[in-house]
Amino acid sequence: MTTTPSKEVPTSNLGLDLVRVTEAAALASARWLGRGSKENGDKAAVDAMRLSFNALNIKGRIIIGEGEKDEAPMLYNGENVGTGQGPALDIAVDPVEGTNLLAYGRPNAISVVGAAPAGAMYNPGPSYYMQKLVVPGPAASVVDLDAPVEENLRKVARALGKDVDDLVVFVLDKPRHQRLIQSIRAVGARIQLHTDGDVSGALMAVDPRSEVDVMMGTGGTPEGVLSACAIKGMGGQILARLDPQSYVEKEAIQNAGVDIREILTTDTLVRTDDVVFAATGISGGTFLPGVQYTGNGAITHSMVIRAKTGSLRYIEAHHNWDRLMRFSSVKYD
Ligand code: FBP
Repeated sequence: MTTTPSKEVPTSNLGLDLVRVTEAAALASARWLGRGSKENGDKAAVDAMRLSFNALNIKGRIIIGEGEKDEAPMLYNGENVGTGQGPALDIAVDPVEGTNLLAYGRPNAISVVGAAPAGAMYNPGPSYYMQKLVVPGPAASVVDLDAPVEENLRKVARALGKDVDDLVVFVLDKPRHQRLIQSIRAVGARIQLHTDGDVSGALMAVDPRSEVDVMMGTGGTPEGVLSACAIKGMGGQILARLDPQSYVEKEAIQNAGVDIREILTTDTLVRTDDVVFAATGISGGTFLPGVQYTGNGAITHSMVIRAKTGSLRYIEAHHNWDRLMRFSSVKYD
């Protein structure tokens, strides 16, 4: 069979610019690997990320950022990023997804960014936590957030052509997940328990190369939107529902007029196919190796996803020492 090359003129892929933003954040923050200070690691990433954003010809507005302006001096929700020339975009950032993973030198700390046309991203408002169920493409239409855990896992196994005891479920290791873990064990599926990092968990669930098949449980609402940016391009499904973990959070959501019972999907979390996502490994992970300093530079590993075309690129970048000097807030002796 012969394939005909497309006659369409290729359009630019903003993800290829955004990956320089996550690379910069990873290069700067990886200096703090295992040094016990999540604040310093996060600050290094935020500073580097903001500097890199300023080189981009976009009119970006942070929808998912470091929090409210008063607590976050940079990359706060509502902040404008980019030169102000170019497309108006919603921007979601997590300069270090898994600040504790970085601080304690554990795997899967990553730096992530998503971008979509202005108005396309779900705005978490005062919601911090949401319940999530992430499954790969073949199981995208068989799951139901209201169904019992056992039923969903049986359906996912069938859709993937596996037995339920073949499945691996990614779950955050939190006291709130005790019952969930019991239910997963009761049906015979296997579990990976991670202290942090459910964007990585979502990516693993939709990546056929990873041994994880499903992600379940409650994690950050911003992380849910970021995960949806990636899932749009990789295929699969995220089902989610706000799951406030305190009375104060619940009341704030209700006061904002948000329906706490609504089931959100990949398509309602990101209401466009014109979305790009970039991630760079900070600490070594199961799907993205971490930053490796080489003496005269560093090597980073990233992924870039463009949902419009379904392209997924893995990029190994070799950076020279000069660039490290520019982006790291750590002094080199
Ligand atoms: P941070 O990078 O902000 O520390 O988030 C890590 C994380 O594990 C997320 O991946 C997850 O969504 C959220 O925290 C869960 O929150 P909590 O640790 O409060 O249960």
